[in-house]
Amino acid sequence: MKPSGRKVCFMTGASGKLGSEIALSIAGQGYTVFFTWHASEEKALDLLDKIRWLSPESMTTRCDVSKTADIAAAFDLFRKNFPKLDLLMASASNFFGTPLPDVSEEQWDSLVDTNLKGTFFTMQEAVRIMQNQDSGGKIITMSDIAAGMVWRDFAPYTVSKAGIQHLTRIFAKKYAPGILVNSIAPGTVSQALESIPGPGNELIGKIPLGRLGDPLDIVKTILFLLENDYITGQVINVDGGRLLH
Ligand SMILES: NC(=O)c1ccc[n+]([C@@H]2O[C@H](COP(=O)([O-])OP(=O)(O)OC[C@H]3O[C@@H](n4cnc5c(N)ncnc54)[C@H](OP(=O)(O)O)[C@@H]3O)[C@@H](O)[C@H]2O)c1
Repeated sequence: MKPSGRKVCFMTGASGKLGSEIALSIAGQGYTVFFTWHASEEKALDLLDKIRWLSPESMTTRCDVSKTADIAAAFDLFRKNFPKLDLLMASASNFFGTPLPDVSEEQWDSLVDTNLKGTFFTMQEAVRIMQNQDSGGKIITMSDIAAGMVWRDFAPYTVSKAGIQHLTRIFAKKYAPGILVNSIAPGTVSQALESIPGPGNELIGKIPLGRLGDPLDIVKTILFLLENDYITGQVINVDGGRLLH
């Protein structure tokens, strides 16, 4: 068991483009970060090196969040090492589009099992720890403004993110007042530009604030939620006004 009195965060998806910035910023806030990766071992180990400069007791492990056995094993390892859980940051996500008539069962399962099922069972494990500690805890899920948009060729992805937003409200109501549960719905963040279909300028024209999101825009919202103890069950769109279009 790690002895220090620092706050502890369990984070999925920390090897992601935005996820790695989030993990570093949480470590920078004084948290020990226990984070998971799925396919990107090298990125995860590189991130662990950086995080340990800020937070020496941080750890990482592989976990496929679409498999409940993997989630259970990651939490077993977590419990062996840490006496409490202050923050769950559920960021693991799969993202791709397929024309609606061509969506296969495998594609549906890959998106919905990673994004929605994975977030549900990760939250379920986290609240088992948090509800047995006097200090309660916080959960932040990562959704997407696409949850409220009608992207014809992204049905499984957008449905999974809409599901995450609804799970956020259900968990918030069920576990109040001890556990505060909120979701951040980013618009397009600059580091993900290569995955956007079509030229960037076309997209920027649809954003009232005239630019893509910066990872810092998301990080600042997370820090705001960490500071605030009177917000729960909310989805915060961080999108430069994109949903106003
Ligand atoms: N970046 C954006 O513009 C943007 C926009 C809207 C919403 N978001 C949301 O913000 C969050 C962070 O985004 P990001 O840019 O970091 O995403 P990303 O670069 O696509 O990274 C996805 C992360 O999820 C992990 N992952 C994928 N499949 C997994 C599985 N089956 N089990 C466990 N982990 C799995 C990946 O791990 P490995 O790499 O190790 O496989 C990686 O850490 C995501 O929830 C995303 O949907 C991002």
